[in-house]
Amino acid sequence: MGGGIIGLSCALELQTRGYQAIVLETKRCGGQASGAAAGMLAPYSENVEGPDAFFQLCLDSLRLYPQWQERVKQISGQSFEYTDSGSLYVAYHDADLLALEGRLLWQRQFGSSGTILEGAELQRKEPLLTRDARAALYTPEESHIYAPHYVKALELACRGLGVHIYEQLDKLEIVEWQSEVVVRAADGRFFEGDQLLVCSGAWAQQLAETFHMNLPIYPIRGQICAYEVEAQPVSHMVFCNQGYLVGKENGTLVCGASEDVAGFDTSVTEKGIGRLKNWNKQLFPFLADKAPFHSWAGLRPATQDGYPLIGPIPESNRVVFAAGHYRNGILLSPATAVLAADFIADKQHNAYNQAFSPNRFG
Ligand code: GLY
Repeated sequence: MGGGIIGLSCALELQTRGYQAIVLETKRCGGQASGAAAGMLAPYSENVEGPDAFFQLCLDSLRLYPQWQERVKQISGQSFEYTDSGSLYVAYHDADLLALEGRLLWQRQFGSSGTILEGAELQRKEPLLTRDARAALYTPEESHIYAPHYVKALELACRGLGVHIYEQLDKLEIVEWQSEVVVRAADGRFFEGDQLLVCSGAWAQQLAETFHMNLPIYPIRGQICAYEVEAQPVSHMVFCNQGYLVGKENGTLVCGASEDVAGFDTSVTEKGIGRLKNWNKQLFPFLADKAPFHSWAGLRPATQDGYPLIGPIPESNRVVFAAGHYRNGILLSPATAVLAADFIADKQHNAYNQAFSPNRFG
């Protein structure tokens, strides 16, 4: 259930392992959070607290990406942007710099070859960055992907491998899930299977009653905007504690993102985009006299503890969850696909053990 990046990646992995995957999507594949994402593959910049299981999963996924995206390109015959840009995490003050130095200490033990850049060195790296930047943490390992094209290619790759994809099903009802899996669509069609993989992002919460579980997954809206630029002036992903900017090879500069509680509403607000514009121009003064040509919003599936739900439910190994990836769905999709497929194959033992068990909320 779910034709976003997680559902499609799982389908690709399962089909490759010899299963017949069927993707059921209520709207269009990649039409929600996946297609709205800035596509950053940035475990070091987006997870700054410490090296927990979640960070490790993000890192594993980053390392799977080069081969994984190549596989998607080959099977689909589609090209899409995948850029090894590296990233800069900007500090404006000494106190912020101290935090970056602390972060770098533990990240170096996990494969980062990051360095702190200051003054002329930093200006050489990203010449149009504000001179108000005190320093930045440069992490060469991070990259980004053009999410809307990538998710389209992923869908084509799935179809190419023989995955059956059904879109615009409107509503899905789980009729049976204990002795077999039967799902009914709004038009009365039934879909049957041996196992059910729930990849419906923020919408997975609606299944709590069906599975007698507490599923604290909530939509957190991310408003995002893009500027049209000439001869891409920003060559790294640039983060600060207010958000990020990513220069894409199609001549757009994508800037995100708000974190609003707005239910399932995907509209943008003047306040949300205004806030982005405000700090964008602080980071890159050349944006002061520019206006975004496009703004949009996606719904991140956030969970109560910030970790995704990946694994079988307590009442049946027939039902496996892969949902709630919050800010890291694009990054986590390859590692999630591998892990979810292992659970479908009933391999209960893996490096993450119970860290992402959907059962942890009772
Ligand atoms: N990963 C970027 C965001 O969620 O805005």
